[in-house]
Amino acid sequence: MSGIPHDHYEPKTGVEKWLHKRLPIVSLAYDTLMIPTPKNLNWMWIWGIVLAFCLALQIVTGIVLVMHYTPHVDLAFSSVEHIMRNVNGGHMIRYLHANGASLFFVAVYLHMFRGLFYGSYKAPREVVWILGMLIYLAMMATAFMGYVLPWGQMSFWGATVITGLFGAIPGVGPAIQEWLLGGPAVDNATLNRFFSLHYLLPFIIAALVGLHIWAFHHVGNGNPTGVEVRRTSKAEAEKDTVPFWPYYVIKDLFALALVLIVFFAIVGFMPNYLGHPDNYIPANPLVTPAHIVPEWYFLPFYAILRAFTADVWVVMLVNWATFGIVDAKFFGVLAMFGAIAVLALAPWLDTSSVRSGKFRPMFKWWYWLLAIDFMVLMWVGAMPTDGIYSWISLIASTYWFAYFLVILPLLGLIEKPLPQPATIEDDFNSHYEQPAK
Ligand code: HEM
Repeated sequence: MSGIPHDHYEPKTGVEKWLHKRLPIVSLAYDTLMIPTPKNLNWMWIWGIVLAFCLALQIVTGIVLVMHYTPHVDLAFSSVEHIMRNVNGGHMIRYLHANGASLFFVAVYLHMFRGLFYGSYKAPREVVWILGMLIYLAMMATAFMGYVLPWGQMSFWGATVITGLFGAIPGVGPAIQEWLLGGPAVDNATLNRFFSLHYLLPFIIAALVGLHIWAFHHVGNGNPTGVEVRRTSKAEAEKDTVPFWPYYVIKDLFALALVLIVFFAIVGFMPNYLGHPDNYIPANPLVTPAHIVPEWYFLPFYAILRAFTADVWVVMLVNWATFGIVDAKFFGVLAMFGAIAVLALAPWLDTSSVRSGKFRPMFKWWYWLLAIDFMVLMWVGAMPTDGIYSWISLIASTYWFAYFLVILPLLGLIEKPLPQPATIEDDFNSHYEQPAK
């Protein structure tokens, strides 16, 4: 499967040979488990397994929740209360699912920022990155629609605000919005289609994850040095790698166990910490909550959406240049989707010939500023839109775009990289003492 030379499965017994001729499934499992993996992977390479766990957890807990949930505006809220109070272990299943979504996003952001630092998105892993971005978009859609299902105040008003964004598209916007909602406002038709899609999308994510894993097995895992595994001979490849089983299986399971200690502590002791109290109030179209705040994982992009108000000069300029077609609301929507688009384009915006941030002295500073910027956006997304907050969100949003559109392309041209190890083996040996020969 991979371009790295290594041993492949050889059927031995008669039964194995019989099956292998007809369906080489054992060979697929063997080659996947024994895939040569760079032997210098650090702890930032564990998030993939945590993500795979989250996907499985969400599907399993979700399927059990559906057995007791009713997607109807008159019954949805009380069916969730029924799960919490009457269903055996129902509160645990629900809290695992709700907090599982948060763990999923913690892991995905760390996985993505790992990729941004180590240049994992660079050739030949652009397709791995793009598939990751599609997974991320599907995760956002799934989480957004899932949050509507309990039919609390935040479910209803969150759905109203976010679907309203599509209404901001000039001309066709209102028609798209009505099509999404299944009517003129958020109502039973909306709840029904969101339920249906919320059930469907995780399986689409699972298919995309399959492609994602296939893609990075095909090109080989990256590693912290950004230097590729030697592919000229099996002997050399073996010096740079270890088989995935047992080395990384054990390491990944150990890391997953540590992450789960924290996760279960949150699920058990503070399950509502990341939720909003207003979602324990049944949806009421006649009462708007004081602050409509999305879940924490949407806040950075929500901040970008709100940052570009009508008094910002770029917005005024674009509004003037487009004869008023692009107003502040539509500009905000474009900025929000644009912020995700520039992330997806990272493989082509980064012009540096060096892959890993470890050997890029100037890049490091800008990268860490981006990580801080992301946290600032997350914080300011939950704040009111006036006074100092509007300035902070504008500056932080501008930096997000500047990083991808100006800094990444320029750095590759002006930066002088540090010397890199010649091989993964050299890097490994420089970290670990070698036994005396
Ligand atoms: C359900 C979601 C996802 C799952 C289950 C998943 C799974 C994995 C796994 C198992 C790996 C290899 C080991 C590791 O790096 O941890 C990996 C690598 C990678 N992932 Fe993901 N991933 C997901 C989402 C994403 C997203 C959203 C992105 C970015 C947009 C992304 C980008 C990458 C890249 C670039 C690599 C290659 C890293 C390297 O080999 O150096 N993934 N993924």
